[in-house]
Amino acid sequence: MNSRLILIFSILFFFCSLITNAQSYENARQHQCLKCHSNQTYTFLNTVKGKEEKRLMNPYFILDTVAMTNGVHKQFDCTDCHSSEYATYPHNGNLKLEPLSTCLDCHGGDESFAKYKFDQIQEEVNKSVHYKVYGENFGCSKCHSQHTYVTTARNSDNVLEIVDNDNKMCLSCHNDMKKYKLVSGHENPKLVEVHDWLPNQELHFRHVRCVECHTEVIDSLMVSHNILGKDHAVKKCVECHTANSRLKASLYKYENLQKRSEKGGIHIVLSNSSYMIGTHQSPLLKLLSFLIFFAVLSGIIIHLLFRIFKK
Ligand code: HEC
Ligand code: HEC
Ligand code: HEC
Ligand code: HEC
Ligand code: HEC
Ligand code: HEC
Ligand code: HEC
Repeated sequence: MNSRLILIFSILFFFCSLITNAQSYENARQHQCLKCHSNQTYTFLNTVKGKEEKRLMNPYFILDTVAMTNGVHKQFDCTDCHSSEYATYPHNGNLKLEPLSTCLDCHGGDESFAKYKFDQIQEEVNKSVHYKVYGENFGCSKCHSQHTYVTTARNSDNVLEIVDNDNKMCLSCHNDMKKYKLVSGHENPKLVEVHDWLPNQELHFRHVRCVECHTEVIDSLMVSHNILGKDHAVKKCVECHTANSRLKASLYKYENLQKRSEKGGIHIVLSNSSYMIGTHQSPLLKLLSFLIFFAVLSGIIIHLLFRIFKK
């Protein structure tokens, strides 16, 4: 056989093995952390006693690995964000004090992420009720986990999925007594009672987002981030249940949803799972209702004329 060919193949083989080795090395690093951080229990070597010990993991430190592999930061290694010193256990206590990067540290002023308008979002967040009360302590991470963050409203064409995902962010705290208390130091008001003026509460919470009623509508952002105080929340039914619903400028403003309703035409009005009384006006349906109206009207007039003539 040609010896040159063998040489080329072996060089190729060498580089391939380098690449795969590097990859398995990366995965191994993730794996080291997840060995403990994806399980209810963890084992470690107690060097004082000189033997292995098994303990319960803090449930808030157990990571959702499925959600992580779907998230926007799935390419990252744990130690791209966390100190590489975490590789040893027991973790060094000082690591707790280390500040972690915020969304703006990485995304602020970056052209490649300009469409998300991170800087403007930050400005809006700084106006919100949460920021007014808790300041820097209420950062982006209170709603967006850097581990599992996905963009839903921008990409999904399923209204129910968008609503579910977005509401989970608020509910993860407003419906979790411990998390709420950690932030505020007092008990959370019961959402069901707070909203008892709203009929079909469960249905509403499945079809509209909390932010629909609790932020001002703002055109320049995909998602309004200025959460207003409760006195400014939407309470009037007609704000949504009219042809000119505020939902058109908020939940239904996304191109992905609009495309769907254009494609759907008349069909969407009849079968869309989120069709809402009063908001949609299909020209075809409108025409049809006019036709029926005039048919009935002319029927009545003819009937009347017959009666008059008979008399
Ligand atoms: C042997 C099991 C084990 C391994 C391996 C492990 N951890 Fe931990 N980690 C824990 C436990 C247990 C805690 C809870 C606090 C403590 O005991 O220090 C924790 C806490 C943490 C915390 C939270 C610290 C705080 O108090 O806010 C971070 C962040 C963390 N680990 C990151 C990592 C990273 C990154 C890796 C991999 C490089 C890793 N851990 C590997 C067991 C482990
Ligand atoms: C894109 C950056 C990023 C990556 C990648 C990342 N983390 Fe984190 N992690 C953070 C931030 C930021 C926090 C603090 C969240 C907060 O302030 O509530 C955090 C918090 C934690 C905590 C404390 C519990 C919690 O959820 O608040 C643990 C444990 C942890 N990370 C482990 C890991 C492990 C293990 C990996 C790898 C599988 C990892 N992290 C990858 C940014 C990251
Ligand atoms: C340590 C730096 C770092 C931090 C902190 C960070 N990101 Fe990222 N983020 C990145 C990088 C780098 C990418 C590109 C990843 C890729 O292309 O695989 C990215 C991707 C994204 C994307 C997808 C962009 C696209 O168009 O593909 C979004 C959205 C995003 N991040 C939002 C956030 C949010 C929200 C936060 C805060 C909760 C945050 N990021 C925190 C570095 C970071
Ligand atoms: C009170 C909760 C809350 C806080 C705090 C918050 N966000 Fe959001 N954010 C949301 C919700 C809800 C969405 C809609 C998510 C979706 O469906 O994609 C969102 C969406 C986003 C998006 C995607 C917008 C798009 O155009 O697709 C980005 C980027 C973002 N937030 C960044 C941030 C940054 C940066 C901060 C901190 C300065 C922050 N958020 C703080 C609730 C919050
Ligand atoms: C249809 C509009 C609407 C929706 C949807 C809605 N809210 Fe409200 N919410 C209101 C109004 C109006 C008030 C003020 C009620 C009052 O003062 O009587 C309020 C009050 C509140 C308060 C103040 C509680 C207090 O008294 O301190 C919180 C917190 C709250 N809502 C959270 C949420 C969350 C979280 C969601 C999503 C699961 C949500 N809301 C969905 C309209 C709405
Ligand atoms: C990490 C916890 C946390 C998350 C996440 C969170 N909140 Fe809050 N929220 C609070 C706390 C704590 C308060 C009480 C502030 C105070 O003491 O006035 C509050 C207050 C409120 C209020 C009432 C303000 C008033 O006038 O009394 C509204 C409305 C509200 N949040 C809506 C939302 C919405 C909508 C989301 C999701 C987009 C959300 N919150 C996400 C913790 C959270
Ligand atoms: C933030 C917008 C919004 C506000 C404010 C609002 N609704 Fe709704 N409402 C909706 C949406 C979206 C649906 C879901 C429609 C569907 O599934 O057909 C709905 C459904 C309903 C339904 C059930 C219709 C059915 O098909 O069973 C009733 C009844 C209703 N709303 C009454 C009210 C009343 C009364 C108020 C004022 C107290 C109100 N709504 C305020 C958006 C809103």
